[in-house]
Amino acid sequence: MKIFIDTANLEEIKQARDFGILDGVTTNPTLLAREGKPPLKQLEEICRIVDGPVSAEVIALQSDEMVKEARDLSKIADNIVIKIPLTLEGLKAVKILEGEGIKTNVTLCFSAMQALLVGKAGASYISPFVGRLDDISDDGMRLIEDIITIYDNYGFDTEIIVASIRHPMHVYWAAKLGADIATIPFKTISQLIKHPLTDIGIDRFLKDWQSLQDNLG
Ligand code: G3P
Repeated sequence: MKIFIDTANLEEIKQARDFGILDGVTTNPTLLAREGKPPLKQLEEICRIVDGPVSAEVIALQSDEMVKEARDLSKIADNIVIKIPLTLEGLKAVKILEGEGIKTNVTLCFSAMQALLVGKAGASYISPFVGRLDDISDDGMRLIEDIITIYDNYGFDTEIIVASIRHPMHVYWAAKLGADIATIPFKTISQLIKHPLTDIGIDRFLKDWQSLQDNLG
């Protein structure tokens, strides 16, 4: 499973890259707004830090405007992927952009039937939001399972990015179900490595090593 980081924060991206496990980055208008910097410059910086795909979202809602905005965004760097909202206008834009060789990531997916249409439109990626479904007492990971089954049934090439991840169990289920990608906030990436028995084990090994040194004089 590929791991993307879901942030527009340069420090977090650099740290995750240095962990050696980072395959790409996803941003959205909220994440860019949080950084308070000019968004195009910020995206440019992000593309300098990582070689993998970097998703940048269009603001337009009409397909012709989305396409225009996407063409401009794609000039930032070769690894830019255009995030498109999951609407009929969005699907039209996906068809045009993928035809031009511009990769798209269709975002704000909340149902399997939306995902079916995205697969048929030929998007490179789809982003189902699991955390936001859980927030309304639905089951985000069941949606991932459904999309994997449907895409397998028909051989769609669209890669599934599990998005709106809130905690390590979302990542666990994404990997267990065989999702292509999980895009994870920095805090959750850091939580994945932690286990109290690892810390206790290191502590014990160091103490035993030290007592051996002491006994040997
Ligand atoms: O990848 C989508 C993500 O940024 C949305 O996450 O936590 O705002 O639902 P959240």
